[in-house]
Amino acid sequence: MEKKRILTGDRPTGPLHLGHYVGSVANRVKLQDTYDTFIIIADIQALTTNFDRPEKLRQDVLNVAMDNIACGVDPKKATLFVQSMVPAIAELTAIYSNLVTVQQLSHNPTIKTEAAQYHYEESMPYGFLGYPVSQAADITFCRANLVPVGEDQAPHIELTRRIVRKFNAIYAPVLIEPEAIFNPRLIGLDGNAKMSKSLGNAIYLSDPSDEVARKVKLAVTDPARIHPSDKGHPEVCAVFAYHQAFNPDTVKDIQQQCQQGKIGCVPCKNLLIEILNRFLEPIRARRTEMEKNPDLVWDILKSGTERARAEGEKTMTLVWEAMKINYFPTPRST
Ligand code: TRP
Repeated sequence: MEKKRILTGDRPTGPLHLGHYVGSVANRVKLQDTYDTFIIIADIQALTTNFDRPEKLRQDVLNVAMDNIACGVDPKKATLFVQSMVPAIAELTAIYSNLVTVQQLSHNPTIKTEAAQYHYEESMPYGFLGYPVSQAADITFCRANLVPVGEDQAPHIELTRRIVRKFNAIYAPVLIEPEAIFNPRLIGLDGNAKMSKSLGNAIYLSDPSDEVARKVKLAVTDPARIHPSDKGHPEVCAVFAYHQAFNPDTVKDIQQQCQQGKIGCVPCKNLLIEILNRFLEPIRARRTEMEKNPDLVWDILKSGTERARAEGEKTMTLVWEAMKINYFPTPRST
């Protein structure tokens, strides 16, 4: 039987951080053996908040590719590709834009949260409001079955499903309605609900060890704990959340010792620093290797993008046929 297909990916707005790792990259590494995995580097989506800095994209696309590979995405198993180089995504975006209302888009809770971050409430670029439509094209151009993402992406997957149902009902049932797989979320070391670059609370996969140490030392812990012998409440402590995510071996002991006031926050943080650096060391080493030879990474993206384009062409042939706008054969449809 043919493998089911996954589509997931990242917006290249900087290097990836631990939140990306826990919230998506770890899962795609696990799933790449079982599924035909497509990983999109969504540079056109990144432009919706960075349209005035396109010159940043080249480095950010490369960073995201290197971070994925350094974490274990295997280009022999997974197809890593660049969004802007796949024409079918732009074409489907245009077609889907008729199947969505402006009202639907402006009620999207993720769009609302992000709009506030970028101060777009009063003056919102049309491309930003519409990026979920383009994301529906990202997912459907390769006829993906499953989309592993964080919970914040749920409204976008729901929109994708609605667009697919509407397309299939109006034209012909040629598109696949995808399902989301939700990944866990890592809170920020500052206690914020999310680790994110724009909140300034991120530990990057490429951070050197002293930078990891500096950031963990600044982390917030249980505010009720003044002395190391005070009984702690790990459930409200950001540092404990990181032990849960990265320290499966001794997380239970840490929890007990904290609750009994037997370990202070300083040694607990030092242990976390050691664990995070041990985890990041091989990732950094693989990244440093790749940085010496970026052309190899571009080659990986180039062949992934070729495969993505070929899949896109197959979908467009079905779409044009379904819409009866396949007026005459073109070099692309043969
Ligand atoms: N919106 C996603 C994010 O901000 C990135 C993304 C773009 C994506 N296209 C996608 C995720 C398609 C899953 C499927 O992280």
